[in-house]
Amino acid sequence: MKEQIVEALKWRYAVQVFDSAKKVSEKDLNTILESGRLAPSSYGFEPWKFIVVENPELRLKLREAAYGQAKVSEAAQLIVLAWRTDGRQNIIRERIERTTKTYGVGAEALKDFQDMMQGSIDRQTDDALAADMKAQTYIALGIMMETASLLGIDNAPMGGFDAARVDEILGLKEKNLSAAVFLTLGYHGQDMAAERPKVRRPFSEVVEFIK
Ligand SMILES: Cc1cc2nc3c(=O)[nH]c(=O)nc-3n(C[C@H](O)[C@H](O)[C@H](O)COP(=O)(O)O)c2cc1C
Repeated sequence: MKEQIVEALKWRYAVQVFDSAKKVSEKDLNTILESGRLAPSSYGFEPWKFIVVENPELRLKLREAAYGQAKVSEAAQLIVLAWRTDGRQNIIRERIERTTKTYGVGAEALKDFQDMMQGSIDRQTDDALAADMKAQTYIALGIMMETASLLGIDNAPMGGFDAARVDEILGLKEKNLSAAVFLTLGYHGQDMAAERPKVRRPFSEVVEFIK
């Protein structure tokens, strides 16, 4: 198992060219999405939505918004990971609601937790809050990429797009959402990037132990 994890992570690379004829099974897609749903987030806010765009016309429009990057329309699947822009308004209430429902307790049992979350949100400027909400989506992104790689499904994260344009194409603003990052999934085609050795800083440079 340990070897399999490292093998899958070494095998994963940011795909440049997908084989558009190859599809990802529904079961695998759902496993990848489920792994994202289970991702941790600050205070358990889960301030995200994973939008699977299957409509070909929309995929072409999104490709334009991603400066023409072909994989947006050629990958088997495109997931747009969006962050919640209504962090100040709704996120604490929703967190309390789902927790009381799951634990079967009244809201008063969570009063201290609620105050703590409120304090944390109140301390942040709008920009800092937005950055924080957006940052959470990258945790889900990483977990979905790892899941895909363990399943042997090629994937590529993409941040190179005009978020305002993507929001417009998908009507995200009205839903209190904004695009953070894309995850494309599928099977690579003729792709020179697949053959290249991984470029990484050495372990000893990246990791520091303080004893
Ligand atoms: C958040 C994020 C955004 C990225 N955006 C793009 C992108 O828009 N287009 C692209 O071709 N690669 C993109 N990449 C891929 C990186 O360039 C790639 O992961 C990095 O060079 C390391 O190579 P590797 O993933 O093949 O190991 C992105 C990666 C991340 C994590």
